[in-house]
Formats: sequence, C-alpha cells, structure tokens
Amino acid sequence: MSAQHTDAAPVRIGFLGAGLIATYHSKSLKRSGAPVARGGVYDPHTERAVAFAAASGHTVHDSEDQVIADSDAVYICTWTNEHSRLLAKVVAAGKHVFCEKPLAFTTGEALQMAEAARAAGITHQVGLVLRRSPAYLWAKHLVDDPTAGRVMTVVFRDDQFIPIQGHYASTWRADKTLVGAGTLLEHSIHDVDMLRYLVGDVRRLSAHTANFHGHDGIEDVATSSLRFADGATGTLTSVWHDNLARPSLRRVEIFCERRHIVIEGDDWYGPVSWTDHDGATGSISGDELTTAVDPMRDGNENPDGEFVRAIVEGRGATPDLFTAVEAHRIVDAMYASAAADGAAVDV
Ligand SMILES: NC(=O)c1ccc[n+]([C@@H]2O[C@H](COP(=O)([O-])OP(=O)(O)OC[C@H]3O[C@@H](n4cnc5c(N)ncnc54)[C@H](O)[C@@H]3O)[C@@H](O)[C@H]2O)c1
Repeated sequence: MSAQHTDAAPVRIGFLGAGLIATYHSKSLKRSGAPVARGGVYDPHTERAVAFAAASGHTVHDSEDQVIADSDAVYICTWTNEHSRLLAKVVAAGKHVFCEKPLAFTTGEALQMAEAARAAGITHQVGLVLRRSPAYLWAKHLVDDPTAGRVMTVVFRDDQFIPIQGHYASTWRADKTLVGAGTLLEHSIHDVDMLRYLVGDVRRLSAHTANFHGHDGIEDVATSSLRFADGATGTLTSVWHDNLARPSLRRVEIFCERRHIVIEGDDWYGPVSWTDHDGATGSISGDELTTAVDPMRDGNENPDGEFVRAIVEGRGATPDLFTAVEAHRIVDAMYASAAADGAAVDV
C-alpha cells in the first residue's frame, strides 16, 4: 500500500462534491468514531462547499487538485459523469479513494477504474452501502442457514419518487450527459448488488424499460426477469414515479425451499420477517436487528468507518470497486436486453 497509516495518525479526508451524499458521508464519518482529520472540499457550486465546510470542519479549496494534494483519502461525491476522470486523478496521486455509485456509465469504464485503483495499491471502496445494512445482513444470514434450503426465487421491488425534486434538490438526474441513464443505473444498481449478495451471480436475464416522464435517455421504469447461476430465478422492478409520499421504498421477498423471508420498511432497520416450514415465524427490526448483526460487521458498523479503518490497517476495503463492476455487468445486460425488446441476454 502507498500512503500507510499508523494508529497515531488520523486519515486526512478530502471531498470532491459537497451535495447530499457528501453530507451523508461526512456525518457518517463522525458517527463512526474512525480516526479522521478534516481536509479540503471542492464543489464548483461554491455556496455548497461553504455550507458543507461550515457544518463539517473541512476547508473550502479552489480546485480538485488542491483537495487531492491536501488529502490521504478522497471521497468522490459528484454527479456520475465526473467519477471516472476524478478517480484517475486521485489514483495517480496515490491517494485512497471512496467513489460513489454508479462508478461510471458502462462496465468497461468501471472496470478501468477498478484496475487503475488496484494497480496503484491504494484502498478503494464504492458507495454500495446496503452491503452494511443490518436488514440485508440479517436476510443473508437467514438465507445461508441450512434450515432454509436453497433459494428458489426472489421478488425485488424498489420504488421512489423521481429524485429531481423533494429532498434530493437535484436536476442533474434528468440530464443523461451527467447521470448516464435513469432508475436502473442511478438507483437500482444497489438492488442488483443486493440480488448478487443475497442469491448469487446472475447468468442470464431479460429486461424492459419505459419512460413516462419523457426526459431523454432517463428510463423511469425497469423490470427484469433473472436466471441465477445456481438455478434460482428472480424479478426486479424499479420505478421512479411522482408519488412524493414514497421517497425510497424497497420490498424484497425471498422464497427458499423451507423458509420465506421479507425485507421491508426501512432499508437499514427493517423489519425483516420470516416463516419456516414448521410454522415458526420471526420478525426483527430497529435496535434489536442492529445488535443481532453486530458480529457480522467486523466492528465496522458503517461504510465510512470501514473505509477509514481499512486504510489505517493497510488492507482492502469492502465493498471495493470490483464489487461494483459486477453490478455494472448486470445493469449493462439489462439495458442491452431492453434495447432488444426484452431478448434474453447472457451476463
Ligand atoms: N450510495 C447512495 O445511496 C447514494 C445516494 C445518493 C446519491 N448517490 C450518488 O452520489 C453522487 C452524487 O449524488 P448527490 O445526491 O450527492 O448529488 P448532489 O447534486 O446533491 O451533489 C453533487 C455535487 O457534485 C458537484 N460537482 C459536480 N462536478 C464536480 C467536480 N468536478 N468537482 C467537485 N464537485 C462537483 C455538484 O456541483 C453538486 O453540488 C451520484 O453519483 C449519485 O448517484 C449515492
């Protein structure tokens, strides 16, 4: 690893982008208790950088390069079309990097980013934060329990109001040059990653997309039928609607041979419920759920704590950029199938 750290030296963090998700990570870093020092922040919307700095203790810098030079590790929290260019700069400087999802518009570009990070020997992590969600960790624990038997099929639904309004305060998600595509790439790459996490690799799929809002290149519905490598099947439904009462809601139903599992409510705190072949049932949520999964999180309860501790310990972080590349492969296959009117595509 370049840029090694000892316990005595806090990791100096810089931010590129000072919007919604940068603010989330900054607060999460504080909550994590990981040893950090606040470095620079740059955002071409200077007022955003100023507000972010005032709340977090970072210093507003005049350029991307200044932030990178002044950091041990950089968070890339810009809109998507900037991720690859900025990651190349951070990696060239030998700095550790946390890059938001999606990494890029295509698998090819995402793979180049992951390979560049690996070649530089730095610690790299992607913002596929559900990998540390208590609800998904507990569901995975229930799936892996031999009592459950094999996963037969999964029904994954994700709906949210189109995030160019409300608390997202963003318009760039309607501009394909900045966001790349719509609900599937921008939002449901999380879901694709969780389908891989819960069930396994996807072998073949078909998909359809639709565009009700009419923003060029921004699909607001994506549905896909999946065949997993181990024989399970599944469906994904992703929709961006105008129902502002539904900000971001997922419901996942996993049918194993002898267990039925449901994740609903909050993405982090559940509840997760299950029913077994012998009539036994369970449901767990909130603090009880968090406590139950603590042993599964290696002491790193949040994604930002994991990133900083991985740097301090001189090891790789989880999930890394290669995990994102595998999700990108599936997303690309879904778009290829949708472009061919739902023709089946190998992943
Ligand atoms: N992991 C998650 O759950 C999650 C949630 C929301 C957003 N995201 C991802 O995070 C990224 C940002 O989303 P957001 O909601 O924070 O958007 P946002 O609009 O709130 O913030 C993005 C900021 O990036 C700034 N920016 C653009 N180019 C820049 C550059 N070259 N250097 C520095 N700053 C630059 C913009 O001015 C803007 O302030 C997107 O890729 C999005 O997909 C991930």
